[in-house]
Amino acid sequence: MNPPIRPIGSPNQVPELLRERLPHCLYEQLREVGGLGEAVQVTVFAVGGLVRDLLLGVPNLDLDVVVEGDGIAFARQLARFWGGTVTVHPPFGTAVIILPGGQHVDVATARTEVYERPAALPQTRPASLREDLFRRDFTINALAVQLNPSQFGQLVDFFGGWEDLASGTVRVLHPLSFRDDPTRILRAVRFEQRYGFHLSPDTEQRLREALSNDWLNLLTGERLRDELSLLLQEANPLPALRRLTEMQVWPRIHPALTGSETALAQVERMRETVAWFREHRPDEAIVEWAGYLACLVQPKPAAGSSLSDRLRLNQKEAHIVRAVTERGADLLAALELETRRPAEVYELLEREPIELALWLRASASAGQVRKKVERFLLHDRYLRTEISGKDLIALGYRPGPAFGEALRAALRARLNGEAKTRAEELAVARQVLEGGK
Ligand code: CTP
Repeated sequence: MNPPIRPIGSPNQVPELLRERLPHCLYEQLREVGGLGEAVQVTVFAVGGLVRDLLLGVPNLDLDVVVEGDGIAFARQLARFWGGTVTVHPPFGTAVIILPGGQHVDVATARTEVYERPAALPQTRPASLREDLFRRDFTINALAVQLNPSQFGQLVDFFGGWEDLASGTVRVLHPLSFRDDPTRILRAVRFEQRYGFHLSPDTEQRLREALSNDWLNLLTGERLRDELSLLLQEANPLPALRRLTEMQVWPRIHPALTGSETALAQVERMRETVAWFREHRPDEAIVEWAGYLACLVQPKPAAGSSLSDRLRLNQKEAHIVRAVTERGADLLAALELETRRPAEVYELLEREPIELALWLRASASAGQVRKKVERFLLHDRYLRTEISGKDLIALGYRPGPAFGEALRAALRARLNGEAKTRAEELAVARQVLEGGK
């Protein structure tokens, strides 16, 4: 469990918390939303994670606005006022405003939901704020703050959300919550472990029932993937992963998954490696969550591909999971051979996703394997020859397939430290071209 986090103020201190804790520009935006609400005579609220985290003293910049009234019309007016663009989704009464600086603001008509089948996306119709909050996942996420100027900063708490924050409790709002939306199984654990909370006994019982009824199976791959990726992207996902193991959730998500001690230890090592790599190469894009996911796959044939299919992973994510699960162990064994020179390491790894190289560094028990992978990751994968085909043409050679081989030999020589200058690279390339005559 992560260290427990508890509220930093009481419900009536929200106006001060808003003023003191939010970045000034976000605070001003809240006031502007309220001002516009007043002008067009609708009641407007900030809801969701921003309110929860404000009370807990945790930074959160996600502005979610709920309008008692026509949310789409309000979003259009707000977008005009801010000079942003707006995308609307009329069937749901929702809109997203994108501001010139790139900030996204979600605006929604207060609505209620009707679930026609378990886990299906719900039908919605406009409703009161209370109903809107009641359809949500947990009491701690069903808090709202009023934004209209006369009531600015007043906390709206119909379901005991503040009490639950204060006692560190994750509690569903109604008994069928996990059936309506089984992603909440993973969300409950994510919030519980993120804040050092616990599930209320009733919530835990409902969650376990939802698991034994196999409701996770009803979710589409996309929804399961999205929720799992959020969990794996937590600042420290391990407590949540451990909790999922304890509740025997993994095989319910997919039979290829395991939360064994070995798997969790590998995630931990992978996290250390990701942190190490980020420190050295902060600009490299890595899909770390897919790397963690790969650590949780059982070492069985086709496990990676079957999981990728179930979760509808995109091409890159599936490539990572499959590379690690299908080739990781063999590559590790190959790298353990004493004789692997840098060019050989390069050739083993150059076409693999970077996440696999990170996995190898995380897995390597022998220091020398780790060193080889580190050299590849930080140095060799960026290395280029100084010479190009043009230089070979300038020497009078005719372009052809041998050029590729010659340049490749020059790169190998550079990787192995045998060619340190342009002239030395040229000499290696010439040798190949002459040898091929
Ligand atoms: N919500 C819900 N059920 C879900 C997803 C979301 O009830 N399956 C509601 C919750 O009220 C939540 C809000 O929608 O607070 C916003 O959702 P999201 O952005 O996913 O969550 P946050 O609470 O903002 O959490 P995080 O800090 O992880 O972004």
